[in-house]
Amino acid sequence: MTSQGSGNGKIILFGEHFVNYGCPALAVGLSNKAIVDIKPSPIIDFTTDINGCNPDYSKKAIGYILKAMRINENFAVHLKGDLPTVGGLGSSAAFSVAIVRALDKKYDLKLTNEQVNDYAYEGEKSFHGEPSGVDNTMATYGGAIKFIRGKGFTKLKILKSMNFVVASTGKSSPTSQMVAKVKEFKVNHPEKFKHIFSKIEQIILQGEKAIAEGDLDKIGHLMNENHKLLYEVGVSILENEKIVEIFKTAGALGAKLTGGGGGGCCIALAKDINHAKEILIKIKENGFDGFVTTS
Ligand code: MEV
Repeated sequence: MTSQGSGNGKIILFGEHFVNYGCPALAVGLSNKAIVDIKPSPIIDFTTDINGCNPDYSKKAIGYILKAMRINENFAVHLKGDLPTVGGLGSSAAFSVAIVRALDKKYDLKLTNEQVNDYAYEGEKSFHGEPSGVDNTMATYGGAIKFIRGKGFTKLKILKSMNFVVASTGKSSPTSQMVAKVKEFKVNHPEKFKHIFSKIEQIILQGEKAIAEGDLDKIGHLMNENHKLLYEVGVSILENEKIVEIFKTAGALGAKLTGGGGGGCCIALAKDINHAKEILIKIKENGFDGFVTTS
């Protein structure tokens, strides 16, 4: 018998990478989901209709989750849904949450969200080593949150809804490589890193306030500043820069890469929903793919 579970994607508005060093991250949930169908199988198996998945990491994640949940049965997992796996949108975490929820259903475990989140984190380790936990938290709870590594999260107050365009570089984001790159930057340029980190902390403080006050111009400005700092630590590649430029030319209030970088996805804040649709057309005219999402 098949059981199904799902987990949601996310975009990080401010603070990716620096969240690993204690800075808060502000993230917004996507309605796009990873959905899995699981059924008992003699071995762990993974299939999908979605491009860009890594079957080895996916199988390893299933194994890690089964072990953490102390389940001594194997499963064939089929991944579907509308969450792109190119990276930056929390697809691996959404996949892990989906598996935990499907197992919860299968065994009628009545897991709390907290337990779902904890088990999903175990799956995330197969993809990203020691991730901050922001992605699995978003995939579990959704909404808009301020996340602090090791401390948990609080819901963000949002005064005005925000219309974003998400665009994919078409290149998978090698998140763990990018995390290692930032670590290297920190080791090689400790003073510069300290300076950048304190600027990010200011962005987070001002960003949270701007979101609560519905100040879209300010949020956009802070996104641009955040992107510059991500570029400085070396996680923005040519395709990220190209998309950010297209966003800006199309009049976006702000634009940045989101998530791990090194490819993956970029986001733009639009003035309103119609503007978001116009920006998306420009993205597609330039040969990239994307979609519009509202907070
Ligand atoms: C990935 O969505 C976000 C990063 O900060 C990694 C992490 O938080 O573990 C790049």
